[in-house]
Amino acid sequence: MNIVTVMGSPRPRGNTATVLGWLEETFRDRGHDVDPIIISEHTVYPCQACAVCKRVTDAPGCVQRDDAEALFRRMMAAHVLVYATPLYCWEFSAQLKPLIDRHYCLVTDFGGPDWNSLLRGKRAGLLVTCAGPVADNADLIQQAFVRMMEYIQCRAVECLVVPFCTTPDQLGVEARERAVFWAERLLADRF
Ligand SMILES: Cc1cc2nc3c(=O)[nH]c(=O)nc-3n(C[C@H](O)[C@H](O)[C@H](O)COP(=O)(O)O)c2cc1C
Repeated sequence: MNIVTVMGSPRPRGNTATVLGWLEETFRDRGHDVDPIIISEHTVYPCQACAVCKRVTDAPGCVQRDDAEALFRRMMAAHVLVYATPLYCWEFSAQLKPLIDRHYCLVTDFGGPDWNSLLRGKRAGLLVTCAGPVADNADLIQQAFVRMMEYIQCRAVECLVVPFCTTPDQLGVEARERAVFWAERLLADRF
């Protein structure tokens, strides 16, 4: 399978990149292709809410000339999507959020009889790293992710949340084992 990963942390060697690296290593070890997107290396402007994209149904119809269309085309070629973000104020990082909002240009007739998404039918997972616990902290982002995946007609699997992160070297064996286990379940579609 072709697995596109979207790394949403500004820190290239931080907690999120480290855990995502374990996921990517597992995907490759099991014979899959990984197409990694590091969002901080790209320019993705915020959605301007012009709605011009709503007139285009067969392509990402956004009028903004930045990297988003090329990134979406890579995501459209994927079988599986993995989004990864540090938890920032209970939500997606500011680096990732513009791309999340821009998914708007992939969806037509939301809730209507012709509701469609250019990412329709893909399996999608979310990795979150955070300094605090899961409860009352990393709960809202999981709900937002599920809601977002419904909107773009992807099939969200159980999120992988790594709580109580300090530094990457302190992540520990258990976090690595959880990451490998989660990656294997994602590949086998066993959630
Ligand atoms: C702006 C900002 C906001 C944050 N908000 C939260 C939060 O709401 N809850 C939490 O547990 N950790 C929060 N953190 C901590 C990060 O989520 C955590 O350190 C994460 O593992 C960092 O990932 P990275 O090393 O990939 O950047 C925040 C960190 C920053 C810089």
